[in-house]
Amino acid sequence: MASSTLISESEAWKNLKAHVGDIDKTHLRDLMSDAARCKSLMVEYDGLLLDYSRQRATLDTIGKLFKLAEAANLKEKINRMFNGEHINSTENRAVLHVALRASRDATIQSNGKNVVPDVWKVLDKIQEFSERVRNGSWVGATGKPLKDVVAIGIGGSFLGPLFVHTALQTDPEAIKSAEGRQLRFLANVDPIDVARNITGLSPETTLVVVVSKTFTTAETMLNARTLREWISAALGPSAVAKHMVAVSTNLPLVEKFGIDPNNAFAFWDWVGGRYSVCSAVGVLPLSLQYGFSVVEKFLKGASSIDQHFYSSSFEKNIPVLLGLLSVWNVSFLGHAARAILPYSQALEKFAPHIQQVSMESNGKGVSIDGIPLPYEAGEIDFGEPGTNGQHSFYQLIHQGRVIPCDFIGVVKSQQPVYLKGEVVSNHDELMSNFFAQPDALAYGKTPEQLRKENVPDHLISHKTFSGNRPSLSILLPSLNAYNIGQLLAIYEHRIAVEGFIWGINSFDQWGVELGKSLATQVRKQLNASRTKGESIEGFNHSTTTLMKRYLEASSDVPSDLPTLLPRI
Ligand code: F6P
Repeated sequence: MASSTLISESEAWKNLKAHVGDIDKTHLRDLMSDAARCKSLMVEYDGLLLDYSRQRATLDTIGKLFKLAEAANLKEKINRMFNGEHINSTENRAVLHVALRASRDATIQSNGKNVVPDVWKVLDKIQEFSERVRNGSWVGATGKPLKDVVAIGIGGSFLGPLFVHTALQTDPEAIKSAEGRQLRFLANVDPIDVARNITGLSPETTLVVVVSKTFTTAETMLNARTLREWISAALGPSAVAKHMVAVSTNLPLVEKFGIDPNNAFAFWDWVGGRYSVCSAVGVLPLSLQYGFSVVEKFLKGASSIDQHFYSSSFEKNIPVLLGLLSVWNVSFLGHAARAILPYSQALEKFAPHIQQVSMESNGKGVSIDGIPLPYEAGEIDFGEPGTNGQHSFYQLIHQGRVIPCDFIGVVKSQQPVYLKGEVVSNHDELMSNFFAQPDALAYGKTPEQLRKENVPDHLISHKTFSGNRPSLSILLPSLNAYNIGQLLAIYEHRIAVEGFIWGINSFDQWGVELGKSLATQVRKQLNASRTKGESIEGFNHSTTTLMKRYLEASSDVPSDLPTLLPRI
């Protein structure tokens, strides 16, 4: 198929459209009783098990999805990504986050140059620096060791590292290596987030890591200036050199900000922000907290999935299968949303991270060639750990709208507990729900079953579950740094597969620009009104009224940080 042709014009797409009628005649209750089918819809790789038998799909559906992959040139697109071609065409960039976790001896080219040695140069620098901070040979301005780290960053410079940090926090090996240390994340430009992050910390023992690919993001730079002031006010301006370091692709701006370029950790324009957790963006703060050796295991887990994604046949390829199933659910079965339901509290920040990776990547309205899409791309991602979600939004998932669910379970708990006299261990209790929920969604409960249970007539319809609600289950052997890396890479590649099939550019994000530029106009107006008393000009009635009310009611604004902080 020519690249400027939309995938919806292909025979493969049309065949799948027609096939929806066949699937509509089935019910998961019946599909699940076909043992041969269920056996075929399971894949294992490197300790992971994917069970997609509860998708509304037959073997015929899967075959048709492979044909769609062929029509979309999926294999070729994956190869182009790994070969460092500029597949992010609107920004003329390669997409090489896989190089961030490649082994030292690997070769991955961008613009004819092997980028792996550069990656390892930065990793070595992080290892050296983080060891110095952790062993107390790098100290703060007053000679005290830096035991606390505040990482400032937003979006991709925040969500991935936060997810990994939260997942590692209860891992026994990581706990040991983090003893006596704290890692916090300052993301929101809301000064409340500043207050929350510095509460209980002393500038004397704090290292601030400013993380920004561009080093121009308004929120991050204001937060960086705020904490620079926090440090300078307490320890004098020269302390900044010992207490602030940076992660960025824009080293000139790092220097201009006042951070010693020797204390800057680089990454490259071929790393998208939301795909940057394996660069210094995540590796530096996480190494400071857990030590480089733990973080290296995380990189190895991601790399294992990279190899699997690159070389496995589509039939056995977990990210490819997941990506194709998402396209099937969104574009053919019409399910706009997807719930990410990890049965592990350690994965509580996984869904927020995947929200950005998925929705910023695939929330597009035009093809990679700029043609308006005649079909919806992208999916609405949300999620909460089970069992918490069960007591929140599962009502809608069971009896309201149909939302395909990803159930993510872990065989071995990070923190096992088994109380004397209890029927099962605490983890077994959690996992009982992990195993039960997918069947509740798939099978439902019929009026006949309810009548047999003597449910009164007036409650039959309320207590009926239609079932036939798709889900898939991913079972991880444990949740250590390695498995966390695997999980991350599975979702990163799954989302790329979806974008490759939809024929969009999953690696740009023009949709975030308009709001940013309008905020610039508002910022100018707020400044002019507050400092020169200028009236509000150039905004519509609604915005003018709201801003007027805001300015009138909040004239008492603290002028600088020393005034602000004692108020916190
Ligand atoms: O929200 C838009 C965005 O550009 C994201 O793509 C990115 O992750 C985030 O802002 C932060 O950008 P930076 O790392 O350049 O500060």
